Amino acid sequence: SDAGVSGAGLGAFPQVRPRRLRRTAAMRRLVAQTHVEPSQLVLPLFVREGLTEPRPISSLPGVLQHSRDSLRKAAVSAAQAGLGGVMLFGVPAGRDEHGSAGCDPDGVLNVAIRDVVAEVGDAVVVMSDLCLDEFTSHGHCGLLAADGTVDNDATLAVYAQLAVAQAQAGAHMLGASGMMDGQIGVVRSALDAAGLTDTAVLAYAAKYASAFFGPFREAVESALTGDRLGYQQDPANLTESLREVRLDVAEGADIVMVKPALPYLDVISEVRRIVDVPVAAYQVSGEYAMVEAAAANGWLERDRVVLETLTSIRRAGAQIIVTYWAVDAARLLTR
Ligand code: PBG
Repeated sequence: SDAGVSGAGLGAFPQVRPRRLRRTAAMRRLVAQTHVEPSQLVLPLFVREGLTEPRPISSLPGVLQHSRDSLRKAAVSAAQAGLGGVMLFGVPAGRDEHGSAGCDPDGVLNVAIRDVVAEVGDAVVVMSDLCLDEFTSHGHCGLLAADGTVDNDATLAVYAQLAVAQAQAGAHMLGASGMMDGQIGVVRSALDAAGLTDTAVLAYAAKYASAFFGPFREAVESALTGDRLGYQQDPANLTESLREVRLDVAEGADIVMVKPALPYLDVISEVRRIVDVPVAAYQVSGEYAMVEAAAANGWLERDRVVLETLTSIRRAGAQIIVTYWAVDAARLLTR
């Protein structure tokens, strides 16, 4: 046809104009396919044993190591912001090679769980990190065998005890983040055997050995000197995540998580297609730190970038997002 680039006459090209749906804010709102709601966001919170005042974490500007007191207040603010949950991480004053403080009912994390649940009740889902790395003197997520590798099955026995301790402290959901084979099944069985059938398990099903965890290591004062390549996944692999996710669902995971988030959107979207449990994504410390650093230099518009990353993670298929921006984002979303 000659009704082309000249634009002359009836049926002038282009007749199909996608820009019509972008013209006004109302039109854009009408056709938006992805929404981020505060109820879908989970805030990680760090509590450090022995602190009387909260302490900043230099590589995570705006994020704090909390005292018992300031932790309770932060949990209340999270509930008031309408967040879906908080995820608690404990930093003990002392560590040993077995990570014993994790199972101790008076250990920092178990005390924090009791404090937070007493303060916020069921207003937000109280989650706790079920792992050993914050508690071990070597910083690994499990017990070490004589040859220095992480002993999978010996670690599972400790995870079972951690699970019962955290659930008895009142955690609503346990975030199993250690990447040991069989951890979800062992945790589920231990909970059920103790009559804790209502405690949910969030499986860090697809967790990559990522350099984006860097600032988190400062946040928990990690003792780790080596790496986690022997138990966390190779960033090169995709189908391995599908296998991990299927195993975790079969073992009883209530929610499966992909971690980190933004560099692994393809993984989130494939996982979404193969499971019928909710899919979560963890926007990790390094993802937060790089945006904060660029924004501090005036190189990025922080608030817009924050919402764009969250929208992208939702669009890829994550229904729940764990993010250090949870409270800020809730404020941006509801203003
Ligand atoms: C392990 C754990 C880690 C993170 C959450 N849980 C550290 C690791 O696997 O090395 C990282 C979270 C982040 O970087 O924000 N307990």
